[in-house]
Amino acid sequence: MYSADSLDRLRAVIERWRQDGDGVAFVPTMGNLHDGHLALLAEARRRAKRTVASIFVNPTQFGPGEDYASYPRTRQADLAALESAGCDLVWLPEVEQMYPLEQPFMLKVPDSLSDRLCGASRPGHFDGVASVVLRLFSQVRPDVAVFGEKDFQQLVIIRRMVEDLSLGIRIAGLPTVREADGLAMSSRNAYLDEDERSRAPVLYRVLIEMAGSLANGADFKALRAASLAKLEAAGFRPDYLEWRSAGHLAEVQPGEPSRLFAAAWLGKARLIDNVPVD
Ligand code: PAF
Repeated sequence: MYSADSLDRLRAVIERWRQDGDGVAFVPTMGNLHDGHLALLAEARRRAKRTVASIFVNPTQFGPGEDYASYPRTRQADLAALESAGCDLVWLPEVEQMYPLEQPFMLKVPDSLSDRLCGASRPGHFDGVASVVLRLFSQVRPDVAVFGEKDFQQLVIIRRMVEDLSLGIRIAGLPTVREADGLAMSSRNAYLDEDERSRAPVLYRVLIEMAGSLANGADFKALRAASLAKLEAAGFRPDYLEWRSAGHLAEVQPGEPSRLFAAAWLGKARLIDNVPVD
């Protein structure tokens, strides 16, 4: 596996592949890799001859008081995991390389995508995500990039950004990878203590039950109230629990694909999850 800590090195390696006519698939990450990330990499390998992963904890997507400083950084273990998963090149930029200007250019995600769900309680978060992903895309210039459906709002926003800015990059979304008990894999699961970890799968179970009831015609408002009560009884502090269009995250219109979205605090961990409604 090659590694690049300068843009010149990154470009030189990719340029050689391009001269050989090889396609490039890209998996951006913030490190602290788990099996969910490795599934993204496996998908990237299916989609192109060459794979690039990045590890960069992006300061602009963390709000004041969020966990930027304490976000788990596990560089050596991440490099070993990428190497054994068959990654060809890892890009390891520093903050000064990613944002050389004191006042960097930043993207503004349209309110209609960013003022809801996670965006409502994390103002500016998706502007930070879109800005760093655009920078990573212009550095790596992949043919295809792979993202997890666990961050479904992020996936929708990135698809829309790529379309709106005509970036010509295919975006592949991969279903959430879960622990055996259903908990969605996430770097932030490390914040759960043993007792919280045993209760954490309730979030997914509640979503699955709700999706089944909605598919059978249950009333969403009543279902939502009962589900919030279940989460609270299990010790969660719910942030939101919504039923939204899978395409544009607004109210569901009859007949369109939809999903249930939830975020809830359990101790120090803010867990998010979503499931399709058939
Ligand atoms: O999903 C993530 O890990 C991050 O939001 C991303 C896409 C790597 C941007 O920092």
